[in-house]
This record gives sequence, structure tokens and C-alpha cells, in this order.
Amino acid sequence: MSALPSEALPARRLPRLLAGLRADGSVALDEHLARLGPLPRRDLLADVEASGLRGRGGAGFPTGAKLRSVASQRGRVVVVVNATEAEPICAKDKVLLTHVPHLVLDGAVATATALGAREAYVVVGERAVHARQSLARAVEARAQRRIDGKVSLRVAVAPAAFVAGEETALVSFLSGRAAKPTLKPPLPFERGVGGAPTLVQNAETLAHVALIARFGPDWFREVGTPAEPGSTLLTLSGAVRRPGVHEVALGTPLDEVLAEAGGVSARPQAFLLGGYFGTWIDAARAQGLELASSSLRDVGASLGAGAVVALPVSACGVAETARIARWLANESAGQCGPCVHGLAAVAGALERLAACDRTDTRPQLDRWLAQIPGRGACRHPDGATHFVASALEVFAHEVRHHLRGSCTARLR
Ligand SMILES: Cc1cc2nc3c(=O)[nH]c(=O)nc-3n(C[C@H](O)[C@H](O)[C@H](O)COP(=O)(O)O)c2cc1C
Ligand code: SF4
Repeated sequence: MSALPSEALPARRLPRLLAGLRADGSVALDEHLARLGPLPRRDLLADVEASGLRGRGGAGFPTGAKLRSVASQRGRVVVVVNATEAEPICAKDKVLLTHVPHLVLDGAVATATALGAREAYVVVGERAVHARQSLARAVEARAQRRIDGKVSLRVAVAPAAFVAGEETALVSFLSGRAAKPTLKPPLPFERGVGGAPTLVQNAETLAHVALIARFGPDWFREVGTPAEPGSTLLTLSGAVRRPGVHEVALGTPLDEVLAEAGGVSARPQAFLLGGYFGTWIDAARAQGLELASSSLRDVGASLGAGAVVALPVSACGVAETARIARWLANESAGQCGPCVHGLAAVAGALERLAACDRTDTRPQLDRWLAQIPGRGACRHPDGATHFVASALEVFAHEVRHHLRGSCTARLR
């Protein structure tokens, strides 16, 4: 079947996901269907593959390939919508569930239907009160109207822990065990919730699927770059005039993204791209940087879960890094030695540097940053050490000042 006419959402116009967003509440089911119409029956797997959509939960894995892997398994499939988003500087999934919950639910139902799944779980974090309320109302409205065919939508509330959002932790939690990562293999698509092949997909990824299901892959590709098509949600914070969630085309230069958010509110010294597993980039290097994997890879970065923080010159990059490193260390699931002890040691060394105590902890930090990655059941230690390594490079000048007993941020 051909795609729906796209008058409701012209291909080149943004926002797409955030179109029709209400500041004061969520888009109700009637309004949602009046604007976008019901989900048509299409060959969803082929369309998602052709769209070039990549996951928006952090790793950027091609969604079409993931759907095929799950479809190739034997037995009844389970779909899991990952909207846990416990990272304090990310808000995109909470915004989607709070304001346009039916877009995410449409994506979950379309995917579940295409895979022959009967159950789709939406997992939301326990602290996301507004998102949980809006989601509960949306699921209830759909159940009353019986619009989801054979798919039954279930809401699960995950504990407020960063690692609870890791896919094997979600599988474990939904199977009645602790929300902690488990060793891979098996991967969720091989053995997931209750032993069934399971598709774990980020909430934003599925919201894109809902639009691809309606308007088709060519429509999706009308924005973004050929290698990375579509739009993406970014959560901007720090020294920006209009912080919050913004939708941009992939490949948009960072300067343009900032301009769209009202510009910077103070001179930035660096940007944190991708979130707490992300990469610090010096402000000079960030000039003209396009937000697409190909350009970001050149500077050792990625878009991750879409968080962008502008650090003003008046802030101390060393102190900010120490604060985040301690948060990450505290969020370890406490199961793997190199993660538990290694991240705590890294955070402690950074705290001493931040406090200007003149002990040169750099040799130990360098050793730990080389030893810790790849030695946990999940990628938590890898993400955390990558983040710290980028800080030691970008804030090297400031680190030297701290070792001489002074913090230049206090002087700026
Ligand atoms: C420590 C840790 C925390 C994670 N938290 C989230 C999360 O909150 N939301 C999310 O979608 N993915 C999270 N992920 C990534 C998931 O494991 C998984 O890759 C993702 O949900 C897949 O969806 P996608 O393909 O649509 O991106 C996390 C990964 C790690 C290692
Ligand atoms: S690597 Fe860390 S966060 Fe991941 S399972 Fe092991 S202890 Fe938990």
C-alpha cells in the first residue's frame, strides 16, 4: 500500500514528533487520530529498513536490522518501549510521553503487530510523574476504543536507577527479577522477557516508526542526511536561553541548533555532547560541527541519547566532571568489580583534582581509564570512562591550574 498523503506533516517541515504539542497537557486520542489518521497496514519492516532510521536510545543501531533479527526468531515476540530515561540531563522521552503519548504507543503497536507480538510493555521511570499520568490516560483511552487489535499495552514503572534503562536490565525487571544488567549473550532478541524473543526500542525511535508507518520511508528521508536520515530530539541545557527539548534535522550544525534555542546565555567554554556517557568538546572545536555521526566521530563524539550541555566560561569543567563522575559511580549496579571499585576510584581522584589538593592523580586516572572499559556486564563503565577521558583532554589546562592550587573559573 502507498504512503498516506503527508498534508498533515509536510515532509521538509519541522517539528515532526513535536508537531501539535501542547504546553498545557497531552494530545488526546481523538485529536491525535483527527490529525494523523489511523495506522495504515503496510510492510512496516521493509519501510523501517528503507527509512534508514537508527535507534535514539544511545547506541544508534539500525532499527530495521533489529526488527529483522527479532522477526527471525521462533516463538511469540515481546515488544518493550524503553522510556526509563533516568539521566538527569535527558528529557526527550518524558516530553514525548507527557505531550504526545499516542505517537509512541502507535509505534509500539505498529511494531508489535508487524512482529506478531501480543504484548507491548512501556517502561517509564518512577520519578517521571507527568509522563506516567499521561501514559496511563492514553493506554486507557486506547483500550476503551479497542484500536490496537491483538496487541495489549502494559505500563511498567522502573526503579529510578540509571542502569535500569539498559536493555538486559529491563528484560530482567519485566521477568520479575532485579532491574540490573545481565551478561550477554543471550541478547534480548534471542532470549528476553519470560524467555521470549524481545525487541527493546527507545520511545523516540518508536515515535519515528509511527510516522514512517503513516508517511513512508521517502517522507522520512526528506530531512537529515542520506547516511543519517530524519529528525532527532535534543535536550539542551546549561548556558542556553531556551533550554529544553528541541527537534532538529540530523546533520544540523551545533551553532544552528543553539540559535534555534535562542542562542547562548553566556560565553561557552565547552559542550558536553551525548549525555553522561558523552564527550566534552572544546567550544572552538565545536564551531561549525554538524550533529551527525560522521562529523562527530572525527572528534571522538556521538549524539548518544541526545543531551547537549553548554558549559559557560564561569563554570569549572574539572568540578563539573567530578560531580558527574561521582553520580555515575553511585549509579553502578554493584555487580562487577572494575565498575564498582574503578568508577568510585576515578570519581575520588577527580574530586581531589577539583578541590585543588595538589596531588597529581593523573597517572592513576590514566591507568584506570585504560583498565576499566570492557570489564563490566554492561557498558556503564565504558561510557563513564569515555566521558572522563574527554574531560581530561578538554580541560587539561584547567587541571594544571588545579594542580598548582587555583581554579581559574573563580577568576572568569
Ligand atoms: C547504563 C545504560 C543505561 C541505558 N539507559 C537507557 C535509557 O534510559 N533509555 C534507552 O532507550 N536506552 C538506554 N540504554 C540503551 C539500551 O540498552 C538499548 O540500547 C536501547 O533501549 C535500544 O533502543 P534503540 O535501538 O531504539 O536506541 C542504556 C544503556 C546503558 C548501558
Ligand atoms: S558494569 Fe557496572 S552497571 Fe553494568 S552490570 Fe556491572 S556493576 Fe552493573
